[in-house]
Amino acid sequence: MTNNIIIFDTTLRDGEQSPGASLDIHEKVQIAKQLALLNVDVIEAGFPVSSQGDFESVRRIAQEVRGVSVAGLARAVEKDIDAAAKALEKAEKPRIHVFLATSEIHRKYKLFKAKEEIINLAVKGVGYALKYVDDVEFSPEDASRTELEFLVQVVEAVIDAGAKTVNIPDTVGYAVPDHYAAIIRGLRERVGNINKAVISVHCHNDLGLAVANSLAAVKAGAQQVECTINGIGERAGNAALEEVVMALKTRHDFYKYSTRIVTKELIATSKLVSTLTGLRVQRNKAIVGENAFAHQSGVHQDGIIKERTTYEIMKPEDVGHLKTRLVLGKLSGRHAFKERIKELGYELSEEEVARAFEEFKHVADRKKEIFDEDIEAIIGIEKMDVPAIFQLESLSISCGPNTVPTAGVRIRLKGDKIVNNTTNGDGPIDALFKAIDLSTGISGKLQDYNIRSVTGGKDAMGEVFVNVEINGKIYGGRAVSTDIIEASAKAYLNAINKVASKNIEYAPVVVKKSSMKL
Ligand code: KIV
Ligand code: ZN
Repeated sequence: MTNNIIIFDTTLRDGEQSPGASLDIHEKVQIAKQLALLNVDVIEAGFPVSSQGDFESVRRIAQEVRGVSVAGLARAVEKDIDAAAKALEKAEKPRIHVFLATSEIHRKYKLFKAKEEIINLAVKGVGYALKYVDDVEFSPEDASRTELEFLVQVVEAVIDAGAKTVNIPDTVGYAVPDHYAAIIRGLRERVGNINKAVISVHCHNDLGLAVANSLAAVKAGAQQVECTINGIGERAGNAALEEVVMALKTRHDFYKYSTRIVTKELIATSKLVSTLTGLRVQRNKAIVGENAFAHQSGVHQDGIIKERTTYEIMKPEDVGHLKTRLVLGKLSGRHAFKERIKELGYELSEEEVARAFEEFKHVADRKKEIFDEDIEAIIGIEKMDVPAIFQLESLSISCGPNTVPTAGVRIRLKGDKIVNNTTNGDGPIDALFKAIDLSTGISGKLQDYNIRSVTGGKDAMGEVFVNVEINGKIYGGRAVSTDIIEASAKAYLNAINKVASKNIEYAPVVVKKSSMKL
């Protein structure tokens, strides 16, 4: 056994199943490239048979992301495996991940199949996938609620059939650390051919134990951990990659295992995933939360000044936290701006730099001090790379007590046509979004609206995230500005531009009320 734990990232598959997350192909490819920089061993890019969009994003990631295994999920049926194999055709290191439920509850109520049938289907699924690729992983879904004796038979059979990795999912987050470790130990002791495959773990966080269970399993002999950035995923999420990795690194004395993860990329990856999915990271989130390395109490601050290790078990810079520095202002030139972007670790094309600099100047006109966080927020928008089919030229709002909230917008369409519209709403944002609907001819239903200040101070930039339902699909939008009404309009337009740039047939202009009074 090596002392290296394989990190299998499923942000783009299980993570994308998070309620409220919405990623388009371009965003998935961006995240996959960042995961490659983070140096994960395997990227599970999607479930190709589940939709055309998933198929296409797995295909693009397989084609464009090098130096890492790319996996596609498939049920143990031929049409799923065919789709996964096709999507992975161009991958440098393709992996097909076949799954089939094994627990009594799933056998009895979902699959209506006896134990022998389950084993036959699992073996057939693995054998069929092996016709396409050498690297096949099998997951007995709901393994942690499967009778251990039966699980031993399934695992032995799929390893005999050629599975190189066998994953033991705690699908419903039912396991607790001692119990889960006992399953892994039990498999290691009782499966005769266990050394021919890698044992993997995949934990959900329904009891808040996903990371603890994964680590207990590693101690019991698991060699691969499946996890997601920021712990996003179905229901309460999956084990958070950054927590698993930093626990193994910080407590190497105890675990004696390492990973290949470039930990300095953790914050950048967390921010990118949060920005693109619209799923905010809580302030006190371990490793990547804003407060993760903040010291409030005077006693702690005093200790830190005397000796950092009195109250810090990890170095903030090891996970990519940067010290907030006052960097630039109104008079800073393009060169200084470009240099700072580089220092912050971003690679932008000349065109992106030019657009970001224009936005920086715009912000600097209104905000005296520009912090690193402000620059990162601006860059985050540029990195989204959504064509500006509709551009906000100006807006006006009137609202307040005893006033009917009214918004007017002036929007420039590609081709330079200008459209003006003014309308009322339940609140200023409702009126604003309705005026945008009228001007663009695309009607959105607001599903989620979030705002936060990028830094402290009354002149801080506001960052707005929206999730908008358009033609039955959810599109995320994001924007920043020192004016939060402007940021709201731009975030909403950002979501609308995603639809417009796909040339989707627009729904007739029906101005619906947003579901929230904003
Ligand atoms: O939670 C689960 O069981 C899964 C499998 C498909 C691996 O996500
Ligand atoms: Zn899962």
